[in-house]
Amino acid sequence: MKFFIDTANLNDIREANDLGILDGVTTNPSLMAKEGITGQNNILKHYVDICNIVDGPVSAEVIATDFEGMIREGETLAELHKNIVVKIPMIPEGIKAIKYFSSKGIRTNCTLIFSAGQALLAAKAGASYVSPFVGRLDDVSTNGLDLIQQIRVIYDNYGFETEILAASIRHPMHIIQCAEIGSDVMTGPLSAILALAKHPLTDNGLAQFLADHAKGNKSPQ
Ligand code: E4P
Repeated sequence: MKFFIDTANLNDIREANDLGILDGVTTNPSLMAKEGITGQNNILKHYVDICNIVDGPVSAEVIATDFEGMIREGETLAELHKNIVVKIPMIPEGIKAIKYFSSKGIRTNCTLIFSAGQALLAAKAGASYVSPFVGRLDDVSTNGLDLIQQIRVIYDNYGFETEILAASIRHPMHIIQCAEIGSDVMTGPLSAILALAKHPLTDNGLAQFLADHAKGNKSPQ
């Protein structure tokens, strides 16, 4: 399973990238605003900064909600860097835009997916990635992982090449369960990725090893 980080914070992106396990980045307008990145020029520059850190797909979301606007914005984003994937919302105009970009060989990530029907439409339009929001479904008492499973079955039934990008990942168990189901990609915060490495028995065991080593290697008096 590929690991993407879901943030526009350059320090977090660098830290995840330095681990050597990062495959890509997803952003959204809320994440950009959270970092204080505003104004068209700053936003475009920030995407390039991210692309210069990570050698992998970087999702950059359009703001327009009409077909022509999405095409204009998406083409500008795609020209920024070879790593850019144009992120398009799951609305009827978005489906048309995904179809258009797919015919031009421009990669897309269809975002705000909350049902299997939406995922099916995105795949038929030729989306490169589809982003079901696991955590936001959990927030409304609906099992987000059930949706990942449903989409996996549908895509496998018909051999769709669209990759399932489990989004809105909140904690390490989400990541593990997505891997069990066979999600192609997950995107989550640095905290969820780092939490995978944590285990108290690892910490205790390491402390013991180091203490025993120190006992046997005391410097001569
Ligand atoms: C998807 O690409 C979104 O950026 C993201 O995963 C949303 O996550 P959230 O529900 O934690 O805001």
